[in-house]
Amino acid sequence: MDNRVQWGTRAGFILAAVGSAVGLGNIWRFPAVAYENGGGAFFLPYLIALLTAGIPILILEFTLGHKYRGSSPLTFARMSKGAEWMGWWQVLISFVISTYYAVIIGWAITYSYFSINLSWGSDTEGFLLGEYLKLSEPGVAGSIVPGVLIPLLIVWVITLAILFAGVRKGIEVANKIFIPLLAILFLIIVIRAMFLPGAMDGVEAFFKPNWDTIFDGKVWVAAYGQIFFSLSIAFAIMITYSSYLPKKTDITNNAFITGFANSSFELLAGFGIFATLGFMAYTSGEPINEVVQSGVFLAFVAIPQVINEMGSLNEVFGILFFLSLTFAGLSSLISILETYIAGIQEKFNTNRAKAVTIGGGLAAVASLLYATEGGLFFLDVVDYFINQFGVALSGLFEVVLIAWFLKQLNPLKEHANAISDIRLGSWWTFSLKFITPVILGYMMFDLLRQNLT
Ligand code: PHE
Ligand code: NA
Repeated sequence: MDNRVQWGTRAGFILAAVGSAVGLGNIWRFPAVAYENGGGAFFLPYLIALLTAGIPILILEFTLGHKYRGSSPLTFARMSKGAEWMGWWQVLISFVISTYYAVIIGWAITYSYFSINLSWGSDTEGFLLGEYLKLSEPGVAGSIVPGVLIPLLIVWVITLAILFAGVRKGIEVANKIFIPLLAILFLIIVIRAMFLPGAMDGVEAFFKPNWDTIFDGKVWVAAYGQIFFSLSIAFAIMITYSSYLPKKTDITNNAFITGFANSSFELLAGFGIFATLGFMAYTSGEPINEVVQSGVFLAFVAIPQVINEMGSLNEVFGILFFLSLTFAGLSSLISILETYIAGIQEKFNTNRAKAVTIGGGLAAVASLLYATEGGLFFLDVVDYFINQFGVALSGLFEVVLIAWFLKQLNPLKEHANAISDIRLGSWWTFSLKFITPVILGYMMFDLLRQNLT
């Protein structure tokens, strides 16, 4: 018998997995990706990506964690001696993501506070870059910006406190609070946004299908890329979380719930963001395609601008929006950190407190780079490489290693089927053996071609 810590309830595990999945990617990445890759037509490749890669890999990772009961490095080592590096590679990517994810959550906390007085004024871009981030030249770190440093420290204190408290008393409890809260706050702002003038034009533009590009490889790469990042797969996270599952649990069903919950949140965000952009187009007189934004500029430039124009209770809208970003971000950040905390704990046979101190401490120190005057530039570069190469490469290695080199799909399938209601059949094996490797391989090839020419 092993005495590994376990989730208190099945709902606790699912909320934690959904908490990891639902993050900044849902709110500020998905809507623009969908719009730019065919709008309503994007749902076809997106759904196919979900069913041939997202959910199959989620099932694979849940099964791995449940069967081998270890962090990602230990899980791979137990599956095959020579495969431990795969786990560490995933942990490394997670480490890098955590260093800048924390910074963005710090900004979101600050902007929740700024919302009270609409401190950003009328020039929201000038405010973000000049006054708040004090952005300097590319490639130059410059000094630390106190306005960024303090919220960043708050983020680390909250996150590490949750992780110190452990899987059940920390991670599970935090997600049981954050995720329902996030759902409620976000639903309120989406509904509010739908009543803004021009909102419906925005939503219509979002769903308007453009089938012309449906056979364009780039649309499919975008769909698979979004699914990977959005479901937090191939980052060691889902393996680590499922290693705390009790013996009896319906793995396959858990994966379907997690996958569909994440996509539902993306769809909801699509409505909310495009309703808001529709309003922005309405007030500025520009066409929708001119105001579509994503990422940092959507959240910290465009949304504040919209809030300025919204009229009554706009401060409340701002607070709810930035708190949503904060909770969505925190629940993902916790999951990323847990990958290397569990990894360190098992590798060096130490206790959780030490692993949190060392792992969390290292990440916190590394994150200071983005709290400097050059922060946003570094963040852009690192985020680009992680999103492009990290995700595709990690997913490709994982699937090819397990399906082709270690030939573990059948034993894993039996493991999952023995405890799940939904039985995995050839759909699962075929997706992992052929579809995912081909698509990810193409993705890598495409990226290399773009970057080398
Ligand atoms: N899945 C998260 C999102 O959609 C992002 C994330 C990626 C979190 C990788 C952890 C690890 O925003
Ligand atoms: Na997501």
